[in-house]
Amino acid sequence: MNYGEVLNNAKTIIGKKCRVCKECNGIACKGEVPGVGGKGTGLAFIRNREKINQVKLHLDTIVPEDKIDTSIELFGRTLKYPILAAPIGGLEMNYGTAQLDDFTYSQAIVGGCKDAGVIGLTADGVKDAFFQDPLKAVGENEGWGIPTIKPWKNDEILKKISQAEEKQVPAIAIDIDAAGLVILAMLGKPVTRKSVDELKEITSATKLPVILKGVMTVEGAKKALEAGAYGIVVSNHGGRVLDHTLATIEVLPQIAEAVKGKMKIFIDGGFRDGVDIFKALALGADAVLIGRPYAVAAYGGGREGVELYTQKVGQELKETMIMTGCNEIQDIGKHCVSYSF
Ligand SMILES: Cc1cc2nc3c(=O)[nH]c(=O)nc-3n(C[C@H](O)[C@H](O)[C@H](O)COP(=O)(O)O)c2cc1C
Repeated sequence: MNYGEVLNNAKTIIGKKCRVCKECNGIACKGEVPGVGGKGTGLAFIRNREKINQVKLHLDTIVPEDKIDTSIELFGRTLKYPILAAPIGGLEMNYGTAQLDDFTYSQAIVGGCKDAGVIGLTADGVKDAFFQDPLKAVGENEGWGIPTIKPWKNDEILKKISQAEEKQVPAIAIDIDAAGLVILAMLGKPVTRKSVDELKEITSATKLPVILKGVMTVEGAKKALEAGAYGIVVSNHGGRVLDHTLATIEVLPQIAEAVKGKMKIFIDGGFRDGVDIFKALALGADAVLIGRPYAVAAYGGGREGVELYTQKVGQELKETMIMTGCNEIQDIGKHCVSYSF
């Protein structure tokens, strides 16, 4: 199988809901939630892509030739690339097919990422099975996956963290930006915003690193740090939880200035290829999550599709490092790019 075949397969399987566009930029699917688009006008998703495109690279090949190393250290392990698969839930509803359920989807994501030397995050949902099934897939892969938990009441979060601990996962995430999902309350499972103290209760109850997903301001990043988070994901949930937000790459430089080195900074929202990954690293991210393209890879090629997509992005990152005078991930910095936001 090659990546072109993965895309063609995906189109036939999920084509009604996700057009598998040449550039996944939120335009064709704007407003389609449920579906794969951004909420409302869809402009938050679209802006994520637009602002990434506004970052330009500095070409420099007058450097001594050396080996290129794309690896990073996270959770005491080495990742081949600074890439993670973002959690995607509500599969049947959003992708309009029962081809993959939460278990088989997570098997493809977690297994494919593991095969490619990176790590995948799994999702959570209104039914207990929406957390347990992905966790089973993580268990099948020696715990090499990061379960994401919704911002339920703290008691339930802590229960799910201990179930994750049993699988020996390296970290857990909480998508705190799901706090406004009224659909969950309507289905009898309310999610809430969290105070710093409530978050402290969670981070102090587990030895696992806790990643807070859905931070878009410097203030939010500082509060996450105060709450004892291991890291944040600078994220607007792919534009699906609040219309008209800034782009994630746009807020990254200020957030990095405030908390870089004090906690891990992950980012997602519109990152598609190795050049995009490079841009995020240059502006202060430690690693990048990719959402929708991983889902396309999983539908179109299962575990192998996920591995192929990761290798493609990783190879593009390597090529970008060659052309910008970088040998190691630490060499990538603001001096490598120009941007006007
Ligand atoms: C169909 C769909 C379902 C998603 N479900 C979840 C979820 O259950 N939990 C979560 O934290 N994020 C969820 N996200 C958001 C992604 O994790 C990620 O933040 C976002 O997709 C990143 O943007 P990108 O898709 O442009 O790369 C979902 C995104 C999509 C498109």
